[in-house]
Amino acid sequence: MTSLAESLEDVLPKDEHFALANLQSIPKLSKPVVYQSERPHTVKIIHFIVLFHNQTPVLATEVYVYLTIAETLKRTIYVSKVDTTGLTKVKVGKVVQRILEWLFEYPVTQYLRDLRVKHTYKTVLKPHPPFTSPVQRALHILIERAKGDKDYGVPQIVESKAYRVPSRFLSLTNSDFQTDLVLFTRAESQYLFPNSNKNDGKHILDDGGLLKWWLKSINLSVNKSFKSAQKYVDILNSEPRQISRYFPENDWKIGSIYYRPEKAHDLAVYNIPLLPDDPKGRFLEHLVVENRAKRVSLSQFWTELAFRQEFRLGRIVGLIGVTGTCNESAPGPLSMLKGKDFENARKVFTESDYSDSSEVEAIYDRVLEYGVELQEMTGRQDRVASSSIPESNKRPVTDLGMLVKRKKSTTQQLS
Ligand code: ACO
Repeated sequence: MTSLAESLEDVLPKDEHFALANLQSIPKLSKPVVYQSERPHTVKIIHFIVLFHNQTPVLATEVYVYLTIAETLKRTIYVSKVDTTGLTKVKVGKVVQRILEWLFEYPVTQYLRDLRVKHTYKTVLKPHPPFTSPVQRALHILIERAKGDKDYGVPQIVESKAYRVPSRFLSLTNSDFQTDLVLFTRAESQYLFPNSNKNDGKHILDDGGLLKWWLKSINLSVNKSFKSAQKYVDILNSEPRQISRYFPENDWKIGSIYYRPEKAHDLAVYNIPLLPDDPKGRFLEHLVVENRAKRVSLSQFWTELAFRQEFRLGRIVGLIGVTGTCNESAPGPLSMLKGKDFENARKVFTESDYSDSSEVEAIYDRVLEYGVELQEMTGRQDRVASSSIPESNKRPVTDLGMLVKRKKSTTQQLS
């Protein structure tokens, strides 16, 4: 078995020092991915993975995993965001490919075993005249506390839902159930690292380049870690001929895992997932607000989605979906953090100013304070002479990884 850190070593430059912050939220029950009246039990996990070169963050990816437990088990892996800081250069595509392979092969039974009890809290108050405002309610609680009952108004656990995962699911391996991979690609100058777009070393792909880049990494990782797979890509408002030019291999199809011709007349609301920051989900919510959710069919949904602003104005927004069954291997070490600690550690990364070297330098120690274990790595890949970056396009990136201190007020020149 190789851990994620070990598997990254051979795509990182030889003898250079790296560290991995492999954060995972504790698996918890959540809302179903696709709205269904029978509300199947759904377990949600967030992975937030950051690669450091020496002590400088290089790249991060945020991935949501949902396990839908009904008659059968189904895993939905939603790659929400990838971003780079531009402060040091590695082959990001290769790193992302390895991260995807690790996620695909992550044993699902491990998540199910880590599932935590869900508590329901209630605040029990003495009989009181109706409160006219939250302030009045707060005052009532403070007065009772001042009278001596120090815990008055503190929410108490009234119900603990210890959902028992049916035992038949605990012996499954990843090849026994369906895994869906889903993501959409839309280029932005930054997603996770504020002000990283000001760093000269940041290589920002445009829409077309980004879609190609994702398809290449996904195709290689799916070929390695899926036992069987159907691969779909779509670009709304594009001709089939244009879309197929993006195929990294000819086993890709134009379409979506969330559309089948035989389901064209089914209601979209029961078939389209509600994923965070996803344009499909945003449109679905819009339909609910407009009170049309119970009228729009799946085919109408896709037609109308194409007219949404985020898919127009010449943008190439790639919708990627893969469905199949996966291989499995042991996950290796990671930092599983409970709700608040996970959020706080994540915020250290997503709320720092990446154009300010003193803030960047503090990140490494700050995440350690939240209990994140960093796994040390040493690159093993021989430097390939000049890789495929044309000489004219090469930017003066600092010699791998050394964060150069800058005067704050001057231009954002890094090297
Ligand atoms: N100059 C010229 N070419 C370069 C440079 C450079 N400075 N750096 C890398 N390249 C070339 C590489 O050689 C490679 O070319 P190849 O495919 O011919 O080998 C290609 O660009 C990709 O290089 P990578 O190292 O794999 O990736 P990159 O550094 O471009 O990072 C990323 C890709 C993460 C998308 C980056 O562009 C970025 O941070 N973008 C901003 C945020 C963003 O748009 N994220 C994706 C959102 S979609 C989603 O997350 C689901």
